[in-house]
Parts: sequence; structure tokens; C-alpha cells
Amino acid sequence: MVKWGGVDKLPRGTTVIDVGCGIGGSSRILAKEYGFNVTGITISPQQVQRAQELTPEGVDAKFKVDDALALSFPDNSFDVVWSIEAGPHMPDKAKYAQEMIRVLKPGGILVVADWNQRDDRQKQLNFWEKPVMRQLLEQWSHPAFSSIEGFSELIAETGLVEGEVTTADWTQETLPSWFDSIWQGVIKPQGMIRSGLSGVIKSLREVPTLLLMRLAFGNGLCRFGMFRAVKTNSVSKSADNMETEVVKV
Ligand SMILES: C[S@@+](CC[C@H](N)C(=O)[O-])C[C@H]1O[C@@H](n2cnc3c(N)ncnc32)[C@H](O)[C@@H]1O
Repeated sequence: MVKWGGVDKLPRGTTVIDVGCGIGGSSRILAKEYGFNVTGITISPQQVQRAQELTPEGVDAKFKVDDALALSFPDNSFDVVWSIEAGPHMPDKAKYAQEMIRVLKPGGILVVADWNQRDDRQKQLNFWEKPVMRQLLEQWSHPAFSSIEGFSELIAETGLVEGEVTTADWTQETLPSWFDSIWQGVIKPQGMIRSGLSGVIKSLREVPTLLLMRLAFGNGLCRFGMFRAVKTNSVSKSADNMETEVVKV
């Protein structure tokens, strides 16, 4: 994803926001291996706490509770906006796209990896796909999945993107991860055991959902989508007094 997004060519000290950072895995990799200055945000205070515990002294990754749909950062704050598998949680996908582009600096790179459903404007979900989709959304509290086509349109519709939004379908490449997620729980059970009986029950409950995800991704109902966009250098600066001025950067 770093290479695909062209982020690997950026210098040390590049500022990155990791939107929906979980417990900070990507943020730490970007900080440690690329020397970036990373801010991870998530809606969950528990994830922020765990991310901080897992981040060693000297790694330039900090974490903050924040809402991806109302980011607390000013416009044009980061060189890179990075987000992995957070989109399905967003009830307002247009706002999610707008907020990520808003905090990106002119010329900055947005790179997103996400679960999507097939574009049902092209082919409606059929009799078995509808209940599977309902179950997937319910199990992990997702309001909805976008399609690759639909979300790239929402990014373009911000009106702040240079040229085309680039997309790719990485379904085949990511397919092994579903069985692997179950296998990792078998060979490394320490985490779930440490959380006691409720942790074990919660983890076991994940297994049917992971299998359904594998079914959905393996049969064309879901698609793993990659998105890349560059923010235009001609930005329209909305002042607090609502006056709008076009600024050439
Ligand atoms: C499936 S996890 C992905 C975590 C991480 N990016 C990773 O790849 O491991 C989804 C993340 O989105 C976060 N999230 C959900 N809704 C959010 C919101 N409105 N604002 C910020 N983060 C949100 C969750 O707390 C979680 O960290």
C-alpha cells in the first residue's frame, strides 16, 4: 500500500494522519520504517490507550481520540492521509471522503484500503447475497459498505482532487487473510485467553463472520478496494466568515 500509493518516495518527517488507526499497527510501521511523523486517530479511547502502550519511546507516532466525520484538525494539515478498513464503519461516506481531503495539504496524497461491496447499480444483490450482506453488516456494526466505484466518485465529488482518483481491486491478493485470521487465533491464542472467558467467547463468535467474509470476497459480493488521490494545488479557502477566495499554492 505504501508503494502503490507512492508514499515510499516521500522524505522522512512527512506528516501522516492514519484515520481509523485501530491499535496503531500501520501508524507504527509508517513511523518506524519510513521515518514519518504519524498521528493516528480512532473513535475508541481504549484503542488509543492500547496504541500508546504498544508504541515504544522514540517512535514518532502519537494517538488521539477523534471522529473521522468531524476531524479536529484544520484544513490542509497533513502531507498524507492514510486509512485502512475504516470506511465500512462510517454512516456518511461522503463526509468521510470530504474530511480526509479537507485535512490533506494541497499536493498531498490520500491512500485508502477498504472493504467494499459490488456496485449494485451495475448488478443487484441476488437472493443469497442480500442475507449474507445483512449479516456481515450486523456482526461488525457496519452501517453500510461502499462500492469501489461509488467511493471513488465521492472522493472526486469533493472537487479538490487533481485529475482522476486511482482505484485498484486487491480482492485476490487479500483473500488468504480471512482463513489466516482464524489460523492466527489458533496458533497465537494468548491474546484471547488473557481477556478471560468473555474474550474467548467473543473471539469464537468472530469465526462464522470471518468465514462469511471469505465467502463474500471469494464470490464477487465484496471487493477489496484501493483508492489514491492527490489534492489539487488550487484550493478554495473557506474563511470562517464564509467568504470564499481561490488561492494558487
Ligand atoms: C476495522 S478497524 C481498522 C483498524 C486499523 N486501520 C487497522 O487496519 O488495523 C476500524 C477502525 O475505525 C475506527 N472508527 C470507526 N468509526 C470511526 C469514526 N467515526 N472516527 C474515527 N475512527 C473510527 C475504529 O475505532 C477502528 O479503529
